[in-house]
Amino acid sequence: MRRGGALAEFHDLAPAEESFRDAVLAGLTRRAKSIPCRFLYDARGSALFEAICELPEYYLTRTEMAILGEFAPEMAAEAGRHAQLIEFGSGASRKVRLLLEALEEPAAYVAIDISRELLRQAADEVAAEFPQVPVVAVCADYLQPLRLPPLPARGEGRRLGFFPGSTVGNFTPEDAVDFLAGCRRVIGRGGALLIGVDLKKDPALLDAAYNDSAGVTAAFNLNLLERINRELDADFDLDRFAHEAFYNAAAGRIEIYIRSRADQIVTVAGRAIRFAAGERIHTEDSCKYTIGEFQRLAARGGFRPGPHWTDRDALFSVHLLEAG
Ligand code: TRP
Repeated sequence: MRRGGALAEFHDLAPAEESFRDAVLAGLTRRAKSIPCRFLYDARGSALFEAICELPEYYLTRTEMAILGEFAPEMAAEAGRHAQLIEFGSGASRKVRLLLEALEEPAAYVAIDISRELLRQAADEVAAEFPQVPVVAVCADYLQPLRLPPLPARGEGRRLGFFPGSTVGNFTPEDAVDFLAGCRRVIGRGGALLIGVDLKKDPALLDAAYNDSAGVTAAFNLNLLERINRELDADFDLDRFAHEAFYNAAAGRIEIYIRSRADQIVTVAGRAIRFAAGERIHTEDSCKYTIGEFQRLAARGGFRPGPHWTDRDALFSVHLLEAG
């Protein structure tokens, strides 16, 4: 048991600060321009993404929450008593509350996130809300090999990883396999992973989810250029770029770009970057899977598929994967 009041125990694994400038310049001087999607989430980008999650067209968040709400007791039964719940990229720790309410005497909730202040605040809130659950906050980059501190344990409880939001779809399938193998190492033999995965469906629904009528998704994507203007002394004219997202059915993924509306030259950190009319910056992919496709991917990452849960309309899935 932890001593003291209901506060999270905090471990700072000091994730390496990545240079936004180096990443942007490298990405914009490639033949096929691209910028890694993690840079979309500065303070304003994170707020815009929260707004996306509330949009009528963006069914993902609400559907996953409904699945967790309805089936958390079954998920908790699979996890068993005294589980150590470990969330990769815990953010505001919103969805995990549904699990914490259902789990039987969890031994610990371990929140891993790279965003230090968000993590500290969210972990303390969970600790206050669930005073009987020891909460451990770990500030780390979960994409790097990770060594967790010694965790509170109870009895024979096993580890249950949690990775919601279909974030696994933002990896290429190959990187997803590597990520799953990394989770498998953290969870260890006998553990399990609960993971949210967006499903293949009518392309019109997918297109709408990434092209909302209120223009929030466009603002979120284009905020990347505003961030470059703010932080890297650049002069992107936002009126001369457009959000573009479409479903590539052959590849089974939503592809997201920022498209130049004109021939133009933009200065970024003292460098002249040329854009042809119609040229694009790739900002994100969001892969969609069938249940079977995802189970095969999980197997390549070292997991045996367990039960999965979906909503009535089969929009979204949550899988329990067993670490063999
Ligand atoms: N993880 C989210 C997804 O794949 C990210 C996302 C939603 C996103 N809408 C976006 C990323 C628009 C870039 C642009 O659904």
